[in-house]
Amino acid sequence: MFQLRCRRASPLHPALRRLTIENETEPALQAFLRGLPKAELHLHLEGSVEAKTIQELDPSLSLDAIHANLHYTGFAGFLKAYVWVTKKLNSPEAYALATRRLLENLRAQNVTYAEITLSAGVILWKQQNIEKIFEAICAEVDRFPDLEVGWIFDAIRQFGVEEASRVFSIAEEMRRHGVVGIGIGGDEERGPAEWFAELYRHARHAGLRLTCHAGEVSGPQSVRQAIEIGAERIGHGIRSIEDSELIEELKRRDIPLEICPSSNVCTGAVPRLTEHPLRRLWDAGVPIVLGTDDPALFFTDLIHEYTLAGEIFGFSHQELQQLAGNSFKYSFRN
Ligand code: ADE
Ligand code: ZN
Repeated sequence: MFQLRCRRASPLHPALRRLTIENETEPALQAFLRGLPKAELHLHLEGSVEAKTIQELDPSLSLDAIHANLHYTGFAGFLKAYVWVTKKLNSPEAYALATRRLLENLRAQNVTYAEITLSAGVILWKQQNIEKIFEAICAEVDRFPDLEVGWIFDAIRQFGVEEASRVFSIAEEMRRHGVVGIGIGGDEERGPAEWFAELYRHARHAGLRLTCHAGEVSGPQSVRQAIEIGAERIGHGIRSIEDSELIEELKRRDIPLEICPSSNVCTGAVPRLTEHPLRRLWDAGVPIVLGTDDPALFFTDLIHEYTLAGEIFGFSHQELQQLAGNSFKYSFRN
């Protein structure tokens, strides 16, 4: 087993750190993970835009300047960096390029199905034409016939209920173009899930599936609220580990946690990877799928998250296969 070098304090650039890990990993594990068909269920389009793509979009920026903007500490700093990236997506063509680069990346990792979250709430906040943007995005998806894609339209918790209502009605209209579900993200502390109860009820009746970021930085109560408003999957949910009754509830209702270990370390949601509750949640029998969340901002990809599960958390090949199976089992196309 390799030394755990994926620490934020390391002087090495995070992208290089990742390569170091992959190089030290058992080649058989890498081959196994590459060969494994996988679905990605927790992935934000905006958080997948790599520095070189940002430079393609805005050639006036140097890579150093881009990296400086992507450098953050803590969860609030991460959200600021995320917003900075979204502002670079200033046209339908920019969203199309981001989509193309992401799908190329997923295809190369043997991801055969992806549910990609679009921060529709941020697009409305930027006062952009969401219909035109989504049309450009869908045209890119059509160029990848071997990769099935479903979309989750995400509202920003702290923008409030009215904004979320606009997002979810557009999601409803776009169902025929591949929108499968809705979610809420952003700051759990400044927008409790209960605010959105009525909207979630309505969305479910309209045939949309429901996920919800919760229990990432806020405690188990936040996950309970997400379940109460009908969430069928929980984005992160790592703080469920603090509440044994909640763990039983997740198991009983078969509600999976979308776990993204690198994200949780980079945003400071957990202090270090070795303290991440992934293994404890798994051993407790909680349904789990692995995701990347914002791969470009966390210098990761899906294979890397599986690699961490194997190398840091001791998942056997059989368990990794089960994780991959879960990623299809809990998808919203079922
Ligand atoms: N939007 C994008 N990534 C997010 C995260 N990790 N938590 C909340 N909202 C997000
Ligand atoms: Zn997320």
